[in-house]
Amino acid sequence: MSEPRYATPFAERFKLNVPVIQAPMAGGPTSPAMVAAVSNAGALGFLAAAPFSPEKLAAEVTAIRSLTTRPFGVNLFILEPNTPDDATVRLALTAIDPIRAALGLPPGHPLEHYAPDFRTQLDMLVELRVPVVSFTFGVLSANDVSRLQAAGSYVIGTATHVAEALAWHAAGADAIAAQGAEAGAHRGTFIGAFEHALVGTLALVPQLVDATGLPVLAAGGIMDGRGIAAALALGAQAAQMGTAFLTCAESAIPPVWKTRVRAATDTDTTVTSAITGRHARGIRNPLMQQLAAQPEQIAPYPVQNALTQELRQAAGRAGNGDYLSLWSGQGAPLGQKRPVNLSAADLVHQLDEEWRAVAAEIGALAHQPKR
Ligand SMILES: Cc1cc2nc3c(=O)[nH]c(=O)nc-3n(C[C@H](O)[C@H](O)[C@H](O)COP(=O)(O)O)c2cc1C
Repeated sequence: MSEPRYATPFAERFKLNVPVIQAPMAGGPTSPAMVAAVSNAGALGFLAAAPFSPEKLAAEVTAIRSLTTRPFGVNLFILEPNTPDDATVRLALTAIDPIRAALGLPPGHPLEHYAPDFRTQLDMLVELRVPVVSFTFGVLSANDVSRLQAAGSYVIGTATHVAEALAWHAAGADAIAAQGAEAGAHRGTFIGAFEHALVGTLALVPQLVDATGLPVLAAGGIMDGRGIAAALALGAQAAQMGTAFLTCAESAIPPVWKTRVRAATDTDTTVTSAITGRHARGIRNPLMQQLAAQPEQIAPYPVQNALTQELRQAAGRAGNGDYLSLWSGQGAPLGQKRPVNLSAADLVHQLDEEWRAVAAEIGALAHQPKR
């Protein structure tokens, strides 16, 4: 990496050459190779650890540490312990089983666990002392935030509106990830109805800056240097980008998912709870449409997520994009200009050049004489 050229206090704190965070993305994209490549290129790589046991979380952090000495982050979902009743599971399976059968799978059955235990994941995260941690789907207690900070971690809370950002501020978070409605995959919303919390990035970021005074990291729809420059102009200290990194070479997702993201148009995504039981933005496909047709049979997250997982994995292995969860943000078409299988490091370098060119152009406009 060349000499650091810090753009914001957040970038300076983590010695980032470019004010970009590669968003944590559960489900395969954010492999240790991706996280380390991004950090080594001068942005902030982020591991999505929500699906992992504490042992797997530790192993992935060890793998990242063997590949980079630079700062990186780890992200978890804040979840309460979940023990669904048998009737909820059986009802969900009546909608899921016909799709399983079409993919050659036997009928599904109730599971012993639907998600890893959040408290044991959190204890492991404290022990691992990673430089940056972030959370979504809820807010930590002030005590948990302090434990992480005492272990040397910088704590980021995800908010989709002002009340959530203030809750994180009250808990002592160091920064807020502002997740706009354009964003790919799960909505972080934990206060109020999801449909009231679809605030676009352009409106959300300055409101969270003004309301909290904390560093704000802008997420949702940012795909190139124009988006990064816009986020900084709104008062954000970095752009958190998911969909842009989703199609990179190091992203360990089925190739057909990458192909569908690269082929998506601006109107191809929908926010639905049909696939996982929690609202998430993805490209419409038969899986989404068939499950959404029977809304009363959708189990809450994480039950529906766990019950549809095996069929989605089978579809991925078969290269069948019709039965995958094709999470993607609304900005996907803006990635089409980049080469197929671009490395994460090359993407970071391109973004660095792009946003500086945009900023210079705006600076030049501002210096034109007034008429
Ligand atoms: C495939 C995918 C998986 C995601 N998984 C997570 C996750 O595990 N944790 C999280 O906090 N955010 C997750 N996100 C949301 C990102 O943090 C971020 O809000 C979003 O990607 C920004 O919008 P963009 O996709 O338009 O760049 C995910 C996004 C995508 C596209």
